[in-house]
Order: sequence, then C-alpha cells, then structure tokens
Amino acid sequence: MKRIAIVITSHKGHTSKIAERLAERFSLNEVQAEVLNLLELDDTSTLDLKLYDGILVGGPIYYGEFSEQLIDFVSKNMELLSAKSVSFFSVGLSSSCRENVRRFLSVTGLKPRQVALFEGAVSFTKSGWIGRLALSYFSKSYAIKFDRRQDHVMTDWGLVDQLADDFLSNRMEMDRGSEMESIPWTAFEVLNSAR
Ligand SMILES: Cc1cc2nc3c(=O)[nH]c(=O)nc-3n(C[C@H](O)[C@H](O)[C@H](O)COP(=O)(O)O)c2cc1C
Repeated sequence: MKRIAIVITSHKGHTSKIAERLAERFSLNEVQAEVLNLLELDDTSTLDLKLYDGILVGGPIYYGEFSEQLIDFVSKNMELLSAKSVSFFSVGLSSSCRENVRRFLSVTGLKPRQVALFEGAVSFTKSGWIGRLALSYFSKSYAIKFDRRQDHVMTDWGLVDQLADDFLSNRMEMDRGSEMESIPWTAFEVLNSAR
C-alpha cells in the first residue's frame, strides 16, 4: 500500500481539517496518509520521510509568513524532499497569498509539483482581540460582512478533494526533477472566488 505524509502546521486547527480531508480522500483510493502537525510533535528530527511515496507540505499564513517550524523543516529536509513527489498548499484569506507562497518557495528552495492556495477560516471564536482585528484586516477583500460571534469557513472542499485526486493520478508517478513551472498553479487557486 502506498503511503503519503501530509506535513503541516496549524495554529487554530483549520489547516489540520484540510489535511484530514486530504487524508480521507487518499484513503478512499486505498492510499494510507498520515497527518503530521509539526507543532504537535516533540521531536521532528525523528520523522523519517523515506518511508513515504509522496509528501504534501502545507501551512497557514500569519502576517504574510508561514511558520518558522515549517520553514525549518522544509529547509532541513530539502535533500530528501527533492527526491520525492512533493506538493505544497497554503491556507489563507488575503489576496497576497500567491506572493507569500512564492517567497516561501524561494526561501526554502522547495520545488513542488503542484501548488494549491486554499482559502482558510475566519476563526473569530478562537482568537483574542488582536487576532480578531487581524482576521478582519486579512479578510477585508471579501464582499461579506462577517458576524464576529462565529467562525466562517471559506474553504472550497471540492478543490481540496481535487488536489488529492490530482496528486494521486498525476504527481506520484511523475519523473523526478520535473519542473515546477510546467504545472499550472491556477488549477487550485480559488482566492477571490467569494469576492
Ligand atoms: C493573527 C492572524 C494573522 C493572519 N494573517 C494572515 C495573513 O497574513 N494572510 C492571510 O492570507 N491570512 C491570514 N490570516 C488568516 C489565517 O491564515 C486563516 O485563519 C487560516 O485558516 C488559519 O489556519 P489555522 O487554523 O490552521 O491556523 C491570519 C489570521 C490570524 C488570526
């Protein structure tokens, strides 16, 4: 049975939900997927990526950045990641996600075979007042007046499923060293859809 690792960080739990959805989709295709949240592991150096046939790396954007743990992990494991089928997904709300992802890829040197930009959650109930202010700011381009007493999930789950399906059918079998540029990012880019 093929094995996939979904390596993420998640602060308020929404990226974890996206990762679980991907794992469920993989399991429907009889592929075993494990969600590994770097923020919940005591020692990430024991993670053995060699055990997996494919790897998805994903994380939320906070103040224009991916978390340090994700950047460190990718940078430290670059040799192994370069030899595997790797896809990357971001989770965010603003219209700057594409630039944030480009910076992450250039800082870490990661060359994924697929990049998805998923819309995240406006998690008012899980945030303090500074977080709520930030959420209002980063979601300001939505043409929606959000009710601050509840959370709002902006993710298109159909696209999450599409990413999993595309990974299984097109990316796992690709030859090593395929150029990232040959892959259309727009296939999974849905930011602005609700604006
Ligand atoms: C303090 C704070 C800062 C944020 N900064 C950004 C940002 O710079 N860009 C963006 O697109 N989304 C931003 N967001 C939205 C998060 O990326 C979004 O809520 C995401 O779903 C969080 O994922 P998580 O629940 O896995 O932590 C921010 C949210 C908070 C609470």
